[in-house]
Amino acid sequence: MLDLLIKHATLPDGTTGTDIACANGTITAIEPGITAEAARTIDATGRLVSPPFIDPHFHMDATLSLGRPRMNESGTLLEGIALWGELKEIQTVEEIVERALAYCDIAVSMGIGAIRSHVDTCDDRLTGVQALLEVREKVKDYLDLQLVAFPQDGVLRDKTAMENTIRALDMGVDVVGGIPHFERTMSDGTESVRRLCEIAAERGLMVDMHCDESDDPHSRHVEALAYETQRLGLQGRVAGSHLTSMHSMDNYYVSKLIALMAESELRVIPNPLINIMLQGRHDTYPKRRGQTRVRELRDAGLTVGFGSDCVKDPWYSLGCADMLDVAAMGLHVGQLSSRADMRWCFDAVTVNSAEIMGLEGYGLAKGCKANLVVLQAPDPIEAIRLRATRLFVIRRGKVIAETPASTARLAMSGRPETLDPST
Ligand code: FE2
Repeated sequence: MLDLLIKHATLPDGTTGTDIACANGTITAIEPGITAEAARTIDATGRLVSPPFIDPHFHMDATLSLGRPRMNESGTLLEGIALWGELKEIQTVEEIVERALAYCDIAVSMGIGAIRSHVDTCDDRLTGVQALLEVREKVKDYLDLQLVAFPQDGVLRDKTAMENTIRALDMGVDVVGGIPHFERTMSDGTESVRRLCEIAAERGLMVDMHCDESDDPHSRHVEALAYETQRLGLQGRVAGSHLTSMHSMDNYYVSKLIALMAESELRVIPNPLINIMLQGRHDTYPKRRGQTRVRELRDAGLTVGFGSDCVKDPWYSLGCADMLDVAAMGLHVGQLSSRADMRWCFDAVTVNSAEIMGLEGYGLAKGCKANLVVLQAPDPIEAIRLRATRLFVIRRGKVIAETPASTARLAMSGRPETLDPST
C-alpha cells in the first residue's frame, strides 16, 4: 500500500494529469491513472505539484532578531554588520536555537525543503555555530539544513577568525565561506579567497563566499574565486553569493569575467530582495539596482539560484520565507519577463538551488525523495504571480504542513459568491 497518492497534478514542466505515488519516503511512480491503494490521497485537481523550494543563501543565526538590541536606522549593509556585532555580544545559544527553530517552522509551512545558512565564525565562543549545529540535528527529519562557516568580519581582518573558522569546520559545519570585499584591501581579499579555497580543497568541502557585495565596479574577488576554483580543481563545488559589483562593472571586463566563471563552473547566488534594498545606497539618481547580471550568467551556462538571505534581522526588516516572493523580485529586477524567463525564475528557487546545494534525490522522478509541494496555482508563472498558497507540504511521503486555499467571499449582487484567485 502507498503512503500517499497525489492525483491529477500539473508538473513544473507543463505535464498535466499526472499522478504521483509515494511509498517508503520515495516517489515510486509518476504517471497518469495510478489506482493503487494509499493511506492518504490528495486530489490536486490540476494544480501545480513541485519539488520543494530551496533557499541557497540564508543567515539563520540572525533571523527573527529584528530590533535587538536596536534598529538599523540607515538601512545600510555596513550599519547592519555593526548592529550584528552588538547582537553577537549578547545573544545566547538558547536564544539562537529558539529563533532558528521558529524560522524553520515558518520555512516548512512555506514549502521550503532545504536551506543553506551561513553561520558567523567571528566569535571566540562560536555561539552561532553551536546553536545551528544543534538546530541542524533537531530539524533533519523535516528540513535539510546545510551550514557555511562564515567569517563575517573578514577571515584576515579579524584576528581569530581563521582559527575559529577552522574550529567550526572541525565541529561539523559543511561548507567554507568568506567575505573578501570586507577585508582591508583588494589584495587581502584575494589572499582570503586563496586561503579559504585551499582549506576547502584539503577537506573536500564546497565553498560559498559572499563575494563582491558592493557597488564597486573595480571589485575583482569573483575573478579570484573563479581562478582559485580552477587552480585547485574545485569546479562545480564553488558558489559566489551576491556578486552585486558585477552590476556596475565595465561591459568589456564582464565579457571576459563571465567566460572565466563558466570555465570554473561557478555557482551564482543572487539575493534579490536584499540586493535591491541594500545596493545603490551611495547613488543619487540614476540609482543602481545592484542585482548581478542574472540573464547573462544564465545564458553563459552558469547555474543561478536565488536566495532569500535575511528575514527580520539587522539587515532587513521584512521577508516571510516566501521563495516565490524572492523569485518575483529577481524576475522584476532582472527584467526576466518572457514566458520562458519567468518559468526559469521558478527553477531558480527550486531545481537550480538544489543543484547548488548538492542535494541528492531531489526532483520529480521515480526514485527521488517524496518531498513535494502542492500549490494553489496552475503553473510556475501563476505560482510566482500569486505567491501561491502552499496547500500541502510533503516530506518523505507524509504531509507535514497544510494551509487552506485562499478564497475571498464576495457580497456584490450578481457576482459569484466566492473567488479563488488562482482561477
Ligand atoms: Fe548573506
